[in-house]
Amino acid sequence: MRDENAWKRRAFGLIFAVCGAAGAAACGAEPEPGPTWYRDIQPLVERSCAACHDGVGVGRVDLRDAATAQALAPTMAARVASGEMPPPALDPSCRPYAGAEKMYLSPEERARFRAWAAAGAPLGDPGEAAPPQHGAAHIEDPDLVFEMPEAHEVAPDDDGNEYWCVVLDNPLAATAWIKAIEAVPGDPSVVHHIALYRDAGHDAGAGYGVPPGTKGFPCRNPILELDWQLLHGFAPGVSVMELPKGAAIRLDPGEQIVMQMHYYASKPGALDRSAYHMRLSTEAPAAEVFMDVFGPVPFTIPAGASQHVERSAVTNEGEPMTIYGLLPHMHLLGRSYDAWIEDDAGANTCVARGHFDFHHQALYMFDEPVVWQPGQRFVTECTWDNSTTAKGQTSFPPLDVAWGEGTNQEMCFMVAYVSKP
Ligand code: HEC
Repeated sequence: MRDENAWKRRAFGLIFAVCGAAGAAACGAEPEPGPTWYRDIQPLVERSCAACHDGVGVGRVDLRDAATAQALAPTMAARVASGEMPPPALDPSCRPYAGAEKMYLSPEERARFRAWAAAGAPLGDPGEAAPPQHGAAHIEDPDLVFEMPEAHEVAPDDDGNEYWCVVLDNPLAATAWIKAIEAVPGDPSVVHHIALYRDAGHDAGAGYGVPPGTKGFPCRNPILELDWQLLHGFAPGVSVMELPKGAAIRLDPGEQIVMQMHYYASKPGALDRSAYHMRLSTEAPAAEVFMDVFGPVPFTIPAGASQHVERSAVTNEGEPMTIYGLLPHMHLLGRSYDAWIEDDAGANTCVARGHFDFHHQALYMFDEPVVWQPGQRFVTECTWDNSTTAKGQTSFPPLDVAWGEGTNQEMCFMVAYVSKP
């Protein structure tokens, strides 16, 4: 008679042998299923990567494609673990902001990429896939549209970058109040970031030495240069900028609007015609929102320093100031920033903290505005890497780097939307 239980006995013997070697933890009744593409990774990619990796965005590779993702699994895990991908953004545990879940991965989510790659990047069950999530919010029927008058033919330098400014006509006949701003990239595959400025000086190109009336010209790093004031900063993934009830930005007739485009392309020839959409209010708001900057000036970063820190602390001597959101700005050697509000009584409120990447700058709008009370100090701290191995190093050997507007100089600014009170 056949021994029906022989296989079972042998199988159990094997399992016990494995359990004995691996320890009790590996011997649960039902083993924890490992991560799969459809259940564990695809939803994260859809949420936090697709804004750039959808095949048309700046990330070039389409990580929504399962086969591509599988082939790139180890690279994805490495880029995610190093903090390069998704590009560094504000840490929402410091202060929650609009769209944080799309721009920031938690340590557990980062570990999931590694575990999935280590398991051989299994696909799993397509029925568990998450629906497309990005590209959601838009300003419907915008009240004001600023569009490049014609398409710009992108001409990148050897590193793939081009910085191009376009002066836009301001159609306003009366003062308007901006409630919401949305950047609309023309060719998302080459638009790396957009900065929108207002120029009260009426000749935006003057500081770049271009003839009066020039509508398009090369321009690098215009933040705080010239007479310009930042209105918005866009990077792929940044959502519509929306100000809370009672707060708006004033825009006057006659002010010139300048769009600074940062293109990133592997070859010339792409045609881009980007635009900005805005929602306006004709009524003056309770709080007029304007841009203010916080940060240390001037300073020198010694050659070779791998972790040089500069800090500024400014006490509010006037009225309470409400801070709605901000854009951290440094140059190529910038590594990280930290801004907080403190007082002598020991209060300490985190305002912004994160790693910095010059090529992925963005504006963050807080879920709840922060109020900077009279007597409190606003502290801004930046850290740079000026060593030979720094990612943004352009000088070999490294040189002392001074504060300044040039790309080979450095800055440390929190460019913030504020109002009084
Ligand atoms: C804001 C845009 C943006 C987001 C969001 C983003 N990436 Fe990227 N990614 C890029 C760009 C630009 C590149 C190409 C330049 C480079 O290699 O750094 C890139 C390159 C990569 C590469 C290398 C591709 C290759 O050609 O080998 C991987 C892998 C990657 N990203 C993974 C991710 C993952 C995973 C996420 C989400 C968790 C993510 N990225 C989110 C912009 C982005």
